[in-house]
Amino acid sequence: MSKRIDVKNLDIYYGDFHAVKSVSMTIEPRSVTAFIGPSGCGKSTVLRTLNRMHEVIPGAHVTGEVLMDDRNLYAKETDPVDVRRQVGMVFQRPNPFPTMSIRENVLAGVSLNSKRLSKSAADELLEQSLRGANLWTEVKDRLDRPGAGLSGGQQQRLCIARAIAVQPEVILMDEPCSALDPISTLAIEDLINELKSDYTVVIVTHNMQQAARVSDRTGFFNLEATGMPGELVEMDDTPKIFSNPSKKATEDYISGRFG
Ligand SMILES: Nc1ncnc2c1ncn2[C@@H]1O[C@H](COP(=O)(O)OP(=O)(O)OP(=O)(O)O)[C@@H](O)[C@H]1O
Ligand SMILES: [Mg+2]
Repeated sequence: MSKRIDVKNLDIYYGDFHAVKSVSMTIEPRSVTAFIGPSGCGKSTVLRTLNRMHEVIPGAHVTGEVLMDDRNLYAKETDPVDVRRQVGMVFQRPNPFPTMSIRENVLAGVSLNSKRLSKSAADELLEQSLRGANLWTEVKDRLDRPGAGLSGGQQQRLCIARAIAVQPEVILMDEPCSALDPISTLAIEDLINELKSDYTVVIVTHNMQQAARVSDRTGFFNLEATGMPGELVEMDDTPKIFSNPSKKATEDYISGRFG
């Protein structure tokens, strides 16, 4: 598990609108990469191209390449459904399936992938995924109760358990803590720190302390002006970005002197 991603000259469009221009970057395996930058600069857009979720929007397309361990995710023969199985995603708002139990939520992606699991294999995967998401001890006595009955922070960890149950290589998280209180946020940050020993993790965050706490590498995205495409200004080791960035725009952004 855990793969390296190389993005090469990626341009991203919504119909005629050129949303992000010419991104090239490497995302290292077994590490956490954070995307930061002002609203509208394209962080979520770039994230969604990494598992081909971008193109589910009508008219949305890309040019350029995204390679996962040298396999081009945008090659003609690549099946986007297969890409989405290997590259899981966790969203800003926890989105457990409302009518499903905790157990069914965790195993939802697994049954969709139509793997026939025995009851004992399913139980084992359930426990392993919930343990992996640091949620097991809190829910082990109520696995058949609704997932929607958990707290916000627990629901987000449930969504992470659902993402890891399909055994992906990469986990993408788009502002996974923005709807959570500080305690749940710290629980998710601890979890992200643990996940990187098995997975390649990419997280979008508006919280710069969070980027500094959880990530190994940070990419700063920016827009020259409204209506212009967003771009990756620089990507480097997180301590370098936050102490001695190469570009003035990065320095202005991280020090709050923006605009
Ligand atoms: N479904 C869509 N259709 C058309 N344009 C879109 C769509 N989603 C995003 N955009 C546009 O693409 C650009 C980048 O948006 P994106 O959501 O990626 O920014 P972001 O950096 O994630 O912002 P935020 O920090 O506010 O979440 C914006 O100009 C946005 O309006
Ligand atoms: Mg966004």
